[in-house]
Amino acid sequence: MKVASFFAGVGGIDAGFKNAGFDVIWANELDKHAATTYRLNFDNELVVKDINEVEVRDIPDFDIMIAGFPCQAFSVAGYRKGFEDERGNLFFELERIFKEKKPQVIFLENVKNLVGHDGGNTFRVILERLKKAGYHVKKEVLNACEYGNLPQNRERIYIVAFLDERTYKEFEFPEPIKLTHTLKDYIDYNKKQDDKYYYTENSCGFYNELKENVKNPDTTYQWRRVYVRENKSNLCPTLTANMGTGGHNVPIVYTPTGIRKFTPRECFNIMGFGKDYKLPKDMANTHLYKQAGNSVVVPVIERIANEIKGAIDRAAFYERKKVV
Ligand SMILES: C[S@@+](CC[C@H](N)C(=O)[O-])C[C@H]1O[C@@H](n2cnc3c(N)ncnc32)[C@H](O)[C@@H]1O
Repeated sequence: MKVASFFAGVGGIDAGFKNAGFDVIWANELDKHAATTYRLNFDNELVVKDINEVEVRDIPDFDIMIAGFPCQAFSVAGYRKGFEDERGNLFFELERIFKEKKPQVIFLENVKNLVGHDGGNTFRVILERLKKAGYHVKKEVLNACEYGNLPQNRERIYIVAFLDERTYKEFEFPEPIKLTHTLKDYIDYNKKQDDKYYYTENSCGFYNELKENVKNPDTTYQWRRVYVRENKSNLCPTLTANMGTGGHNVPIVYTPTGIRKFTPRECFNIMGFGKDYKLPKDMANTHLYKQAGNSVVVPVIERIANEIKGAIDRAAFYERKKVV
């Protein structure tokens, strides 16, 4: 089945669907840096322009729409304006496309906060618009550490909408799975990284606080303006798009080579991108940190995509039986 990807970023949702056996044929993304990373890893057509300028007639036919539309408008850290915010309106750009293209399945991902935004109105509008276009909708908040076997605390809302009612009935979100992976599977503790990742007496005004508090190699830490926060659960906190900028710190780890922040590669690792996922060599770290924080936890997407595939297959099987 053919997949079209909107707000594709670096292709985390695309990777999950590809891993589940779907064929991503087309994508759209505005940010040229994200597009560079995407292109290193995917062969399909990527149109780099504002979705507002994408004409429906220029998009090839597809069966599945995937979109992690920008969440700033819905995020606690964002503006809390919902659809009044320009970026909140981008959902309506998706609506413009799915109303005409009528894909069999629509997969949407967003921050958990979308559900409660504006007393639930924002979310209600999204569900209403999907239903009005003929879709049957299921939705669930899943945490990556419970559903992706990956030690990141990252709760996201997933919306899966089906045109066909039988397929909708066959679909269930995946069950939780045991977390067996640890930070050590994603963080290269023993390798000496470039000096710029390390906190030292000379480079950091809060080094003494770090030295005092950062002592456990099994967990991650965050510098919170005036104090060090230890993540007690041996998880990495939600990676965010603004980490590495203006006081928003990249998670910190205690390693044999010193106290340091995650490298961009480690951020992509802990979003579940495989080791073979390529990062552009000459791209500034601020872009790479942003791209990782903006993305999705690939194994969670893959598990949902597998459930979608199973639902489509079962519905087709029952349809054939009916005919026979
Ligand atoms: C939350 S991120 C989605 C990231 C993606 N799911 C991934 O795995 O990397 C939202 C993306 O939408 C893009 N974007 C924002 N406004 C856009 C617009 N008007 N048209 C197209 N893309 C846009 C941003 O550059 C960003 O990459």
